[in-house]
This record gives sequence, structure tokens and C-alpha cells, in this order.
Amino acid sequence: MCSPDHYDVDYVINPWMEGNIHKSSRDRAVEQWHQLFHILKHHAVVDLVKPQLGWPDMVFTANAGLVLGNNVVLSRFLHKERQGEEPHFKAWFEDKGYTVQELPKDLPFEGAGDALLDREGRWLWAGYGFRSELDSHPYLAKWLDIEVLSLRLMDERFYHLDTCFCPLKGGYLLYYPPAFDSYSNRLIEMRVPPEKRIVIAEADAVNFACNAVNIDEVVVMNQASEALKGRLASAGFRVIETPLTEFLKAGGAAKCLTLRVTEPVRTELHANVLVESRTIRLEGHLLDTGLINRALDVVVESGGSFQVLNFQLGEQRQSTSAAEVKVSAPSHDVMEGILSQLIDLGAVDLPQDERDAKLEPVLQVGVAADDFYVTTIYPTEVRINGEWVKVQNQRMDGAIAVTHTPNGVMARCKLLRDLAVGDQVVVDVQGIRTIRKTEAREQRNTQEFSFMSAGVSSERRVELVVEQVAWELRQIRDQGGKVIVTAGPVVIHTGGGEHLANLIRQGYVQALLGGNAIAVHDIEQNLMGTSLGVDMKRGVAVRGGHRHHLKVINTIRRCGSIAQAVEQDVLKSGVLYECVRAGIPFSLAGSIRDDGPLPDTQMDLIKAQQEYAHILEGADMILMLSSMLHSIGVGNMTPAGVKMVCVDINPAVVTKLSDRGSVESIGVVTDVGLFLSLLVQQLDKLTHPYLMAQML
Ligand code: ARG
Repeated sequence: MCSPDHYDVDYVINPWMEGNIHKSSRDRAVEQWHQLFHILKHHAVVDLVKPQLGWPDMVFTANAGLVLGNNVVLSRFLHKERQGEEPHFKAWFEDKGYTVQELPKDLPFEGAGDALLDREGRWLWAGYGFRSELDSHPYLAKWLDIEVLSLRLMDERFYHLDTCFCPLKGGYLLYYPPAFDSYSNRLIEMRVPPEKRIVIAEADAVNFACNAVNIDEVVVMNQASEALKGRLASAGFRVIETPLTEFLKAGGAAKCLTLRVTEPVRTELHANVLVESRTIRLEGHLLDTGLINRALDVVVESGGSFQVLNFQLGEQRQSTSAAEVKVSAPSHDVMEGILSQLIDLGAVDLPQDERDAKLEPVLQVGVAADDFYVTTIYPTEVRINGEWVKVQNQRMDGAIAVTHTPNGVMARCKLLRDLAVGDQVVVDVQGIRTIRKTEAREQRNTQEFSFMSAGVSSERRVELVVEQVAWELRQIRDQGGKVIVTAGPVVIHTGGGEHLANLIRQGYVQALLGGNAIAVHDIEQNLMGTSLGVDMKRGVAVRGGHRHHLKVINTIRRCGSIAQAVEQDVLKSGVLYECVRAGIPFSLAGSIRDDGPLPDTQMDLIKAQQEYAHILEGADMILMLSSMLHSIGVGNMTPAGVKMVCVDINPAVVTKLSDRGSVESIGVVTDVGLFLSLLVQQLDKLTHPYLMAQML
């Protein structure tokens, strides 16, 4: 221990210190410290370290280092406010004859505050996330020759492992689970059987109940609820409470004020680390596109840690940058999760250049091995027998199936349900790379469709988008390309039907995807003048109008199909009429709430998905008009590189759809009827400039 002669709250390096600068009473602190000292002296031998002026947190000797047997791993404090304590603690350890191990510079580790031995000595629990770096854990394993289990801290109030976690004698564990991420909780539950886990409530946690000193059956702490005392008593422990409120103001209590220097070594046990490291390489406009930030965020948010080994900065606007980053994760599972996200961002796993993708056979129809790689919209390649093979049928949320054909190896995206026994599916994350096209700032600014890509447009910008879309539509039509529209019934309700019909008539649309409703209401409007019973000219509900759409369904059913209704001269105008006239394919996917349905509606959803996918092949652009479900379905089937324009009055829908992380998708929050009318106007302007000028 270290007496509090110079103790004070002088600075803020944890949330407890906030608002407490110079608010603790030295006298009371001294008194509380002495009480603790006397209690502990009764149960153990207590040595003292000489306090140093100017290092107020030195009382918290738990942070001096981590001792096991004759070895000490000296702390490397994260904050400069405490770094000056290091030489004093080091001198003390050396003086006592310990072998002092020092971590590399810039690799923070805060001693026994963040590393707690199982009280049976079976392994070391090591925390990371705030003060200690995950990469310090392999050093602990090596120097102390012990298994290290890494736990990730998530709540900044519990910034050191010993603030929320306390191994007790007999394999018991006192802890506060919400302070850890779910992976860590699972690890704890795997190592500590349920009857040995003593979970505490938040109220005890904020009283630092886990920051307890355990000597045999005695547990010394600041304060415990009756419930907690009872629980500990039934496990055979006796709680001694001693107020340490003055130290709580600095974010510490009983355990922080002590360092155990007589930890027994179990010689039969040896080092083992679950921590894995890999080196990845990222290339492209890393800064301009924010790719490097996103990649590093992915690592940290998923529970890993990183070290940038090398960053070559592209100095010209057009030149790309390259970074090599060492990524560490507390386990192979977490590493897989991180790497698959990094691969999606275009990273390559470096040593992987020499490794093939791992394959696992499908043993049950429609079921892949657990750790199958889930595909994205980005072009992907897998390494098979030393060769990079491009994956066919790229779409998101599939598995990659590899087959050997007479013409060589073939890899393709397959939906789970399409997996056949004998297919080889790519698992794990090695031997996989995705190709992300990252444009330079310059290119991005001149490229069509780019100016809106940063986010969802505001009302004022609708016209700008309309201009862009009109231009694109004309280009695609003139080049014989393919534009696909997905539309919901709102297109009809908002009066957009005639404009969409117009676009089809003029050859701007090559296929229509929707559900039962768009067709029903389009036909209702063209046969009866209402949409869902509302008169489209006057905008008022028609008496008995709610029956209209059923009459319409009945009529089409009598004809046999929409196409037959057109042939029989029953249906003479509208969106579906134009589709039939122009001979462009349409697919209507059914749903549970459909009335009728129309004979054309595909109620077998697997077939409907297949029809959609077939129609979508080779699309250049997709206009998504107020239909969340059909549009999301379409988005999932579409590889990167296809331009997508999503129009919806609900910003949430637009955000969801345009947030594919690909430069080609843009969102417009506006009334879809209005959008279509502006679009038709703009196209007319492009076609008949003279006429338009006269009209204006
Ligand atoms: N003020 C000190 C800090 O933030 C408190 C240290 C508490 N020690 C501990 N082992 N939890 O570093």
C-alpha cells in the first residue's frame, strides 16, 4: 500500500473524478486509508511504498504493476498524469528483488488494476478497452507463463477490470456483467460455473463492491447491500465494510489501494493466449473517402485493437494511399467477425496472399457450415489452388459455392436455400478479397450521381436530382440500356400513375417490379377513376369506393390476366397497360395481405424472388418508388455498380435503402407523385427544348 500523504483529486482521467477536483478531504482520506490498513494488517502482512509529492494517484498501488511469483510486469500508464509513478514503483520492485518486465513504449497496461488472477491461480483475467491495450496481453502470457483470458470493458465508469470484477477464493467470482461486452460475458460463463458466479446489481457496482480485497474467507470493501452480503455469506464469505468515500472521488476503493505481491505460481500451468493478430493492407483514397477511419472503427467497435504499421500517404489529389495495419482480437471468433467486415471494405489480409480460401462441403440441403462467409454487393474473388477466382452472380447475403467444372474452378453466390449436398462453401475469412472502387475526390465530383451520395437530399435539392436522373434515363435509353422500376401503390395514390405510364410509353423503363397492390390500384384508377376508393380528380372518397378494388380484381380474373384484359380491350390505359403494350416484363410479388390476388400476382415467394432476380440481371439503373419491401428485396439481389435512386416521403426508408455504402445509390425524400411529374417535365424539356421555352 501507499499512504495518502499527497493524495488529492488533481485532474480528471475517469468519470468519477469529474466535478471532484480538490473536493476530497485529505484528513478524511487519511483516516479512511488507516482504517483499511488496520483491517488488512489483521489478515496479511502489509508493506508500504513511499508516497511521492506530485503523484496524487500513487495511493492506488494496484496500478503499480502485475506480480506473479518473482516476476513483475511494470505498468505503462495511458495518461501522462500517472506516468511519473512508473520509476518509483519500478525502484520499489527492484529493491525487493523482483524481476521487472517492461512493455514496449506506447503499449499501455495498468497492472493489477486491469489483470486479476483467478484465486486458484488457474489463469489470468485481463481487461482492455479503456486503460490497457489488448496487445499487451500476449506479453503477460509470455512473461508470466500463464493462460490469459481477455475481457473487454464497455462502461467508462468501470474503466479498470478491478472496478467491476473480483475473483474470490474457491473459484467464486463477484462481478457486474453489464460492464463487459457479450463475447466477454460468454467467456466468463464458460470458465465460471453458474453456482460460482455472484452477479451484483448496479447500485452495488457504483459503490465499488467489486473493488474488494479477498483474503481467505474475508472480503473487504467500501460498502455492500444486505442482499449482496447475504449472497456472499451463503458462499462462505464474511464481508467487512470500511468507508472509502474519499477515494471513490478519484475512481478507486479497497482493491485499488492495494497490490498483492505474493501470488503463488502453479508450475504445472503454462502460457496460452487466445489473442490473435493479423496484418491487413488497405489501398485507395483512404483519407478522402474516410475508408481508413471506417476500417479502424470497425476494429475497435467489434472488440479488437489495432496498430498502424505503415501509412503511405498519397500526396497528390489523384494519388492513392496505402496502409498496413496490425489487427488484434481477443479470440479467433472475434477476429473472423472483424476481418469479414474489413474484407467488405476492400482490405486484404497480408499473409493471405499465400493462402487459399477454406472450403467446407454442404452436408444438408440448404444449410452451410456455421462459419460460412456471407457475401456483399461488392465484386469478390476467392483464392483456390493459388489462383484468384472471380465470384459469379454477386449479390448480398449469399454464400460462395465453389465447384470444379471441366473448364476449371467456378465460384458463385448462392442463396442458402439453393445449396446442394456436395457444394463446397467458402468458410472463415482467409483467401477472400472484395474489390471496392474508390474514386479520387476529383472523379467523384465530376461523376454523375455523385453529388447526392453524401446523404439524403433535402426538399430544395429534389430538382437537382430530377435533372440528374432525367439525364441518366435518356443516356441509358439511347444506349439501349436497362432501367428497372420498383413501385408501390403510393405511386398511384399520389397521382404518379400517369407519369410512370408516360415514362414506359416513351421507352425509359425496361421492366417493372412490384406487388399486387400497385397493379390493383393502377387498374382501379384506369377502370373506375379511383385509387383505393378515392376519386383521383377531385381527391375525395367515393361512396362505396372501398369496394372498387375488389371489383377490379374480379374483372381481371374474369379476363384471365392483365395482358388478356388489355387484349380484350377491357384495360385501355395506365401503368400496367403500357407495360403490356410495350411488351416489357413485370413481376408482381404477393404478400399475406393481398386481396384477390390478381391472376398475375406470384404468391409463391421463392418463385417471385427468382422472377425478380431474373429480371434484374444486367440492370443499369433502378428507380425505387415508394415501396420499402420490394425495394429492399431488390437491393439485396443487386451487385454494386448498379445506379439506384430511391424516392420515398419517409426519410427512414430512403436512408435504409441508399445506405448501401456504395457511391451509386442516392436517396430523395419527397412525394413520389411530384417526383414523377417533375421527371417527365424534365425529360420533355430535354426532348423538345423549343416547345418548352415557348410554353414558359
Ligand atoms: N484516479 C485513478 C485513475 O484513474 C484511480 C485508479 C483506481 N485504481 C484501480 N485499480 N481501479 O487511474
